[in-house]
Amino acid sequence: MKVLVVDDEVRNAELTALALGDAGHDSAFVNGGAAALRRLEAERFDAVVTDLRMAPPDGLSVLDEARRRWPETDVILMTAYASMETARDALKRGAQDYVSKEGDFHGELIAILERLQRGRALKSENVRLESTVESLRQGLAQVVGDSAATRAALELARKVAATDSTVLLSGESGTGKDLFARAIHFSSRRAAGPWVKVNCGALPEALLESELFGHERGAFTGAVRQKAGRFEDADRGTIFLDEIGELPMPLQVKLLQVIEEKTFTRVGGNQPLTVDARIIAATNRDLDGMVRGRQFREDLLFRLNVFPIRLPALRDRPGDIPRLVEHILRRHGSSEGQITEAALRAIERHPFPGNVRELEHALERALILAGSERIAIEHLPFSSGPAALSSVSSWVPVIPAEGLSLETLERELIVQALERTRGNKSQAARLLGLTRRTLYSRMERHGLRKPGEGDEVGDEAKDD
Ligand SMILES: Nc1ncnc2c1ncn2[C@@H]1O[C@H](COP(=O)(O)OP(=O)(O)O)[C@@H](O)[C@H]1O
Ligand SMILES: [Mg+2]
Repeated sequence: MKVLVVDDEVRNAELTALALGDAGHDSAFVNGGAAALRRLEAERFDAVVTDLRMAPPDGLSVLDEARRRWPETDVILMTAYASMETARDALKRGAQDYVSKEGDFHGELIAILERLQRGRALKSENVRLESTVESLRQGLAQVVGDSAATRAALELARKVAATDSTVLLSGESGTGKDLFARAIHFSSRRAAGPWVKVNCGALPEALLESELFGHERGAFTGAVRQKAGRFEDADRGTIFLDEIGELPMPLQVKLLQVIEEKTFTRVGGNQPLTVDARIIAATNRDLDGMVRGRQFREDLLFRLNVFPIRLPALRDRPGDIPRLVEHILRRHGSSEGQITEAALRAIERHPFPGNVRELEHALERALILAGSERIAIEHLPFSSGPAALSSVSSWVPVIPAEGLSLETLERELIVQALERTRGNKSQAARLLGLTRRTLYSRMERHGLRKPGEGDEVGDEAKDD
């Protein structure tokens, strides 16, 4: 261990340092408390062994100062007389131990240092293990999916995790942007550093600015004390800027500066601060379109977009569903055998506008409804209604004795499909096994749409 010995009887300090050096420690000594504090300011020590009674600053002052400013440095006190009182006081104030300067106290000191050293080794091993466990718990292993799209995204994430590069995650809500951002952080060299998440859409501009960059005292009404921003919190770690598309223009300028120069100022301050924070941003908006509409700065998008990862919608990767279902059921203490084949197939055919999040909610609800039974079609939120849309073989309704109106049945099914897809006609058409054009003509026939009516906003122009 690197040890500093402090005594204003400098010959004593020297002899003690020599003895510790012989025992294999990297020891130095100084004459008195003031010199000790100067030395500690300049250099980091694992432990300080200081005499108690010295001309001010005495041993207790060195102890207090060291606890306050260098909490990682252990302090051991030496006293000429074994005064239980001061010794207890010292322990209470954070000293690791004390020895009385009589007999072979060097041997005693060496034993204490050995014990501290073992404790340190254990602690750093624990920190290492903890961060390994954490990276397993939150890392890329948590991302599930067999589809080519998910595997490709995972591969990109794995590659970029090892670097300090800025990452831009894009995809609809519920596609796993949060999950990927965390996974990248916890698989990176910064895993043991802070993970800080800020939702750029959750706060109005003024509050968001002080949240991100902090403020000085008196910067605005209510700023009664100085506050560090989330960027400062994220130093040596990662800051996750969720919903980056919601970042107001003036803050886009400030963020650009952080990326380009690594510096920023707190609100109401003029001192440039420097941070070493990795940036991961996420959005469900079309940032290119926003640049064209002058709502997002092109230079910022350019800086954020150095390593884009696009997470596809769940409906575009039905191959992921079996593994996702299994994963989600496991996470809820259930197993893959808890769901019927038919239910699984119904899930695979469902469009899931809310993506994995919606799938998760559907399964949580189904688990409750199913109780101790296996999850079946009727437990799924999208299978109710007159004719359950499950597998072709099991849904065909039996015509009742009084007969039925095929027209009414068709209209009912179209309305249901539109409701379930929140009016998205491409998805509704897919649910019904129709082309969009055919859906339109049937909607017109049932009076659900005026002939030639234009597409509503939000309905993707994806013609079959
Ligand atoms: N590929 C995946 N594997 C496992 N769980 C996933 C996957 N994608 C999403 N999830 C889960 O779905 C939910 C929503 O994901 P989230 O990351 O919050 O989406 P987003 O941030 O894009 O809205 C979370 O509970 C997440 O753990
Ligand atoms: Mg999210």
